[in-house]
Order: sequence, then structure tokens, then C-alpha cells
Amino acid sequence: MIVNTELEQKGNLFPSRILHFRKDVDTFYFTAENDVVLQLRIVRDSVMRFRYTTTGTFENDFSYAITKYASTGYNHLEIDEDKEKYIITTSKLICHISKENMRVQLYDAIDKTLINEDELGFHWEESYEFGGNVVKMSKTVNERESYFGLGDKPDHLNLKGKRFQNWATDSYAYGKSTDPIYKAIPFYTGLHHNKAYGIFFDNTFRSYFDFALERRNVTSFWAQGGEMNYYFIYGPEMQTVVEKYTDLTGKPHQLPPLWALGFHQCKWSYYPESNVKEITQKFRDLRIPCDAIYLDIDYMEGFRCFTWNKEHFPDPKRMVKELADNGFKTVAIIDPGIKIDKEYSVFKEALDKDYFCKRADGPYMKGKVWPGECYFPDFTKPEVRDWWSGLFKELIEDIGIQGVWNDMNEPAVMEVPNKTFPDDVRHDYDGNPCSHRKAHNVYGMQMARATYQGLKKFNYPKRPFVITRSAYSGTQRYTSTWTGDNVATWEHLWIANVQAQRMAMSGFSFVGSDIGGFAEQPQGELFTRWIQLGIFHPFCRVHSSGDHGDQEPWAFDEDVTDVVRKFVELRYQLLPYLYTAFWNLVEHGTPLLKSLVMFDQEDNQTHYRTDEFIFGDKILVCPIQEPNAKGRRMYIPRGQWYNYWTDELVEGGKEKWVDAEIDSMPLFVLEGAIIPKFPVQQYVDEKQIDEVTLDIYYKEGKERSQLFDDAHDGYDYTKGRYSLRTFKLTGKSNELIIQQHKEGKYITTYKNFKLNIHGLPFKAKVVQLDNVIVPTSELVTDENGLMIVDKDFSEIHIIG
Ligand code: GLC
Repeated sequence: MIVNTELEQKGNLFPSRILHFRKDVDTFYFTAENDVVLQLRIVRDSVMRFRYTTTGTFENDFSYAITKYASTGYNHLEIDEDKEKYIITTSKLICHISKENMRVQLYDAIDKTLINEDELGFHWEESYEFGGNVVKMSKTVNERESYFGLGDKPDHLNLKGKRFQNWATDSYAYGKSTDPIYKAIPFYTGLHHNKAYGIFFDNTFRSYFDFALERRNVTSFWAQGGEMNYYFIYGPEMQTVVEKYTDLTGKPHQLPPLWALGFHQCKWSYYPESNVKEITQKFRDLRIPCDAIYLDIDYMEGFRCFTWNKEHFPDPKRMVKELADNGFKTVAIIDPGIKIDKEYSVFKEALDKDYFCKRADGPYMKGKVWPGECYFPDFTKPEVRDWWSGLFKELIEDIGIQGVWNDMNEPAVMEVPNKTFPDDVRHDYDGNPCSHRKAHNVYGMQMARATYQGLKKFNYPKRPFVITRSAYSGTQRYTSTWTGDNVATWEHLWIANVQAQRMAMSGFSFVGSDIGGFAEQPQGELFTRWIQLGIFHPFCRVHSSGDHGDQEPWAFDEDVTDVVRKFVELRYQLLPYLYTAFWNLVEHGTPLLKSLVMFDQEDNQTHYRTDEFIFGDKILVCPIQEPNAKGRRMYIPRGQWYNYWTDELVEGGKEKWVDAEIDSMPLFVLEGAIIPKFPVQQYVDEKQIDEVTLDIYYKEGKERSQLFDDAHDGYDYTKGRYSLRTFKLTGKSNELIIQQHKEGKYITTYKNFKLNIHGLPFKAKVVQLDNVIVPTSELVTDENGLMIVDKDFSEIHIIG
């Protein structure tokens, strides 16, 4: 048995004294007496890669996580030594490496504080069972250190005092302490003394992280094979850590089509065609905005991927067209298991071409999934990914499906105790042949990547939209994701909230939960509260197993329908705000959701908060997570915030009771923010947008906001055809100034902004519009008295 603990000292081996070092451009090699080599690469001034071998030679350097677009280069690099240690200095970090035992200490280069230090440092156990080593790293816990990240763990945001495992696992109806679940994202952020750093352990074997559980002063991580290979990322701001990690493992390759940020409706399963039509029409009749309808596995013929059940869907192309005419995009599920069936062309072709995974001794990897016995493509082989992407031609190009949903790609296998492939299954791993022990955690990622390639090709010039259940670090480049088979309980509403925040701080922002819960059936109240949270998640989809009743917005009662409509409408109004945030994610890796600790890490009060989060960078959201609530206590972060519903200005930095009857929820806007809003539409681009409302929240002081727009699909924005507006708000006691800076070649469809000013502490007497003084009586206003201005204004002064 492999030892699942870092502490098991008996078998542990350690580096011995360093004999010499060598430098090769940006990389140092420190060699110890016992053949241990530490390869230290300076990726950037603030990012260092630590890689260890125990044999003197390294494995082929290959990673699915690290993107070729990652930033590299440093401003300063210097090595020095004294009797005890080597000292490497960049403009951001100082790294000490002990000559005695190779232990590492990392300091802030500017104020010299200790950020992170090895406890035992690198150590390992030889694994006679599998060959290779169990590779381990232990770090000292700093005073009041907190830990965040690790992907989809359904646990408290702050990971301190807990241990987790990374092994992608199909986890139907998981709970708060279930571990592991669907994703494997071995990246965490540590925070102490107002300084945050990240550690990305790029090792795809089953790995573990222990945050001061086994020993109170030690945080450790280890993996059941491969190399000790981690990146140290210095902030010191938490958001910077996540941005740099995202730079390393990749931002989404392109913006999503705007419709993908709309509301989506799903169920296992809507069929036959008449049912799909009925559901979609009902959205239109009840005027609840919706952009996408999903086809779960029952659209297929006997669950064979890339086929259609012709009895239920006699003419998919026509149906998809008719849905499109009604403003709906159709998204279809595709699983990895290919039914063993000699008459089935996908199966035959993969068999002929030798694309299926095999067991160590030669037979195919056979396992049961929805279609019965299946074989599984080896998505870690480039040729197989190409072939797979080609399979989408008909579905996308001919039939017109606009999005693909990849499920069961952990990979999930039914009726076996370990729920997945046995360890001995062989994989190509892009020319680095290995067993399933190494390839398991990237299987889903490589499937999603192949699917993404297919969509990108066949949907061109439109943008691809993919959803995946399983993921490893870097999967965010290709796809969105959801949190898997949750349950219709209040606890799961809490879990969904934490998971979405955690995913965002793990570099994977395009995330949502099955709104309402997948298993079991919510009461109308729970469904409503879940919608309220869900509209603030980047991926916003209702999904349920359907075994326990319907989960459409009208399946409860009229009050529920009305509240759902109200909040889905709010989502559609906020689309330009969310789209702008998405543009910042694609450009800079900025997370779409920020936990309070990321928003204000210097405020200790935020370190153990879980419920409140910032949507984008200016809207504070706090879901109601229990029944019969008329409001709740919540923590308002430091600063001044406007209650979204009442415009009441509240002072943050404390807990506060906030009223929230069932048709409301705690929602605040940062003072000084300018929030762009579209008019409500029933689906994205239903109408041409002629006017955008700017909700302007007065602040005495300065604040910056942005508005991004483009064609909402296609790649023109990458050639400069976008419009980016930066607003600078300056508030004084009797004056409000808004300056606009414009960038990009895209001409927006809207010509005007409607200004909705909140909290103005004086009565406006005069408005100066681009240097022209306009008496308030002569302003162009709408029926509610809101000022309408040309979208290309440079400067507005509102004077009291
Ligand atoms: C899995 C998925 C779920 C889907 C079902 C049937 O349980 O997680 O979303 O509806 O399979 O395809």
C-alpha cells in the first residue's frame, strides 16, 4: 500500500548536501551528493518553478496545464552564496537554498518578509509497488496563515485544518465533506501578514494537500508518482496570485458568445421534440428570458454519441432551426463512453484506427456507462483528439447545435467500486506513454479540449461553447464547467456558493451549479433563492435529473415564477457588466467572482467569510441560504456601499442585518461604481440595443469603471473591433464629474447612454457636457427624467 501521509517518516528519504550548482540562462541546477537535483527556473520575477529528481535525471518536461502563452522573463536576476546557502534574487523574490539539505525559503524582495519556507522540504518514499516515488513537500505554517483554492472542494472556503485529495471522481449527490469530487486542481493560495502567494503542484497523479491538519505547523502536499514539480507564485495580493496562476495555466482562449452568459434551461431529459418545443415556447409565453435549451442523453439512439433517436427527433436540423428562430441555442450532451456495437460507425472507426484505451496486457478498457458496455477513446493522444473533433461536423455544421456538454469524463464507469478505469490502463499522454494513474486527472480535460477543437472548427466564425464536468488545471482555456450532481437542499445552496467562489480563485471562473439541485426536488422557496444566487454565477443553468418532478420556473407557483422572472431579467440587464468582467478575465485573468478575502485581504474579518462575494468588481452579493428568511446578517466589506434596492448608503467593515423578503436578496453596489445595463430582452440580441443605462453611484472621491462591447460573437474583437470605455468618476461636495476614455474600432449599436444617478448629495443645477453648459431644464431626458447623453461624450460635469 502506498503511504497516504506525508508524516510517515520511516520510509522518507531526503536530499543530502549540495555539491555544486550550474546555471543555464533562466534555470539553476543544484546537485546533491545523493543525486537529488533541484531545478529552479525563474519564470518571472514573481514566479519560480521548483522541480526535483532523485536520480540525477528529469522526466521529459511535458505539462497539459502550462500554456505556451504563459508570460516569462524577469527584470532582475542574481545569484550569490555564503557558507550556508545560495541566494537567488529577482526584483520580487529572494530565494534561499540551504547547502546542507536543499531546503528553500522565499522572501519578499522589497520588505524582506518571509513568505514561505520549507519545513522538511522535498522528501520522498520509494514505491516498490508501482515504481517511482511518492514525492512530498512540506512547508512551515506561518502565524495566522489561511489557505484557499483547490478547485471544486465542497467545503469551507478557508482550507486550514483540513486535508484534501485530487482524483477526479463521479460523485452523484455528494455532500459537504465528500472528497474528492469531479475536479483536480492542485493549486492553492496561502495568506498571512497581508501577503498572498500561490503554489501550483503540477503533478497529475493522485495528490494530497494537508493544510495544518496532520501537524499544526505544517502544510504539505504529495503525489503518488511523478515529480515534485511546483510553481511558487508571489502576489502579494491574492487577486494577483490568481491572475498569475491563470497566466501560467491559461485564460479562456476567447470570449464566450454573449448568449452563453444568458439563462439556460436543462433537464435529464427533454424529449421528444414536442416537449422541447413546449418548454421553450413557455419561456416566451411567460416572458422569462432564456437563451439555451439542453438535450441530455435521451436525444441519442441508445445513448450512442453522435447519433439521434429518430423516433423522438425525426428531423433535428429542422428542430434546431425552429428553436433558433425562437431565440434558442441548442446544446447537446456528449459522453466519452462509446457503445460496443459493430454496427455503430463511431465505434467501428475508433476500433479500426486503434483509438480506444487498452489495459496493460492488451485487451480494451471495457466499462459500463449509460449505453451499456463501452470502450473509451484515449483523448491523451493528439490523433484521437483530432478524430474526435472531426466527429462534430454533422452535429455543429449541418444540424446547427451551438454548444456541447461533456459529461462523465472523470472518466466515470458504473458498477465498479473505484468508479473509474483500473490503474493499469495505458494512455499515450501526448507521446509520454503512461498508466491511468498519471492520465486519470487529465482525461476529462483532454476530452473537453478535443470537443472544443471540434466546435471551434465547425462553428467558425462563431465562438465555441463547451461545458465539462471534470477538469485539471488549465481546462479553463477551453470550456465552462458546472459543479456536477448536487442535491435540492439548503445545504447544497451553500455548497454551490462556495464552489463557484473557490473555482474562480482556482483560475476557473466560468462556473455554475445545477440551479435548484440535480437530485431530488426543491420547494419553490429553495428554487427561488437558488435562482437569486445563480444569476450571479458566470454559467447560469437550471438542471435536474427530472426523477422527482419538474424544475422549470413555472413548475412551482405563480409567485415563484414572478420572482424568477424578476431576477433573470436582472441578469439580462447586467449582461454588459458581466461581459466586461469576462473581457477582463480573457485579457488579464481577473476572476469573475471574488470572495471577500480576495476583495480585501487586509481585513482579517474576511478570512473566514464564505457567503458574501463580489460579482465582477463592484457588486456585493449575499444569497439567502435558509428557509423562511426575511433577511439575514452579512458582512459588508470595508468601504461605502449602496443597497441595490433602496439606494441606502451603508458603511462597511461590519456585520449588518439586511432585509430580504422572498422577492429580494442582499445586493450592494460599491460607491463610485458605474454599472452598465442593457434593456431586458427575451434572449441575447433579440433586439438591437439602442441605449445603455449607466447606473452611476455617487461617491465623494474617485472610482474607475469599464464597459466592453463588441459583436457578441465571432473573432472580430481580436482584430481591434471592440469598444472599451473607461469611466472615471470624481465626486465632490457640489459636483460630479464623469470622464470617458474610448478604445477600439467597434461601433456599438447604441448611440446614447441614459444616466441614472444614485445618491447625488446635491440638487443638480447645471450640466456641462463636453464643455457646453446646458441648464437642467434643457437636458434631453426620458419619461422618468433620466438624462440622455451621446455615448461618445468625453466629460460630464454635474454641478449643484
Ligand atoms: C450525469 C450528469 C448529469 C446528467 C446525467 C445524464 O449524472 O452529471 O448532469 O444529466 O449524467 O446524462
